[in-house]
Amino acid sequence: MSTLTDRRAATDSPILDVLTERWSTRIFDANTPIDEDALASALEAARWAPTAANTQPWRLIVARRGTDAHAAIVSALAGFNSAWAGDAAVLVVFVAETVRDGKPMTWALYDTGQVAAHFTVQAHADGLSTHQMGGFDRDAIAAAFGLSAEFTPVTVMAVGSLGDIREASPELQARENAPRERRSLEESVLLSA
Ligand SMILES: Cc1cc2nc3c(=O)[nH]c(=O)nc-3n(C[C@H](O)[C@H](O)[C@H](O)COP(=O)(O)O)c2cc1C
Repeated sequence: MSTLTDRRAATDSPILDVLTERWSTRIFDANTPIDEDALASALEAARWAPTAANTQPWRLIVARRGTDAHAAIVSALAGFNSAWAGDAAVLVVFVAETVRDGKPMTWALYDTGQVAAHFTVQAHADGLSTHQMGGFDRDAIAAAFGLSAEFTPVTVMAVGSLGDIREASPELQARENAPRERRSLEESVLLSA
């Protein structure tokens, strides 16, 4: 259990508790197995995400710690990601189907991101932590799992229980304790008429 008391977002308007409380930890419990019921629910939430024309241009690779698949994903992680994400009980590769029947799937990346968003919200609601990563070797993942050119690995998500920050390295502790920031809504909303 982490000693962190509050990583909640300081929101300007009230939002759902699960959105306030979600954050991307880098400190996962390296021993506790995945809560299979919570994982099943997160996967089900992903399944029910909306996609363009219900084309569902996404696939997942779900790898539990201790399996060859988990090790293969860890070995494909870039830089600092490989220092912490291997502790996660599950690593999920979010794959976009960018081409179907020879035609580009225009919304595949968008849809896959929304699938990931649904996954994270359900996971956090059920007590799991998540951390998405873009820093990994796409070719290595494609080769390890035999993905054809129509399928693009987009992100890897670490999923599991929160670890104990007191046992983490100083670098991890510093990152974990860094302030959570966002630019103001005024800077993002181009027009609100
Ligand atoms: C598409 C995507 C790629 C990301 N890639 C990485 C990554 O490679 N390594 C990492 O430590 N965090 C990564 N992150 C996490 C972001 O840095 C993090 O979500 C952001 O700083 C906001 O923090 P929060 O999720 O705690 O609110 C990524 C997040 C997303 C959505």
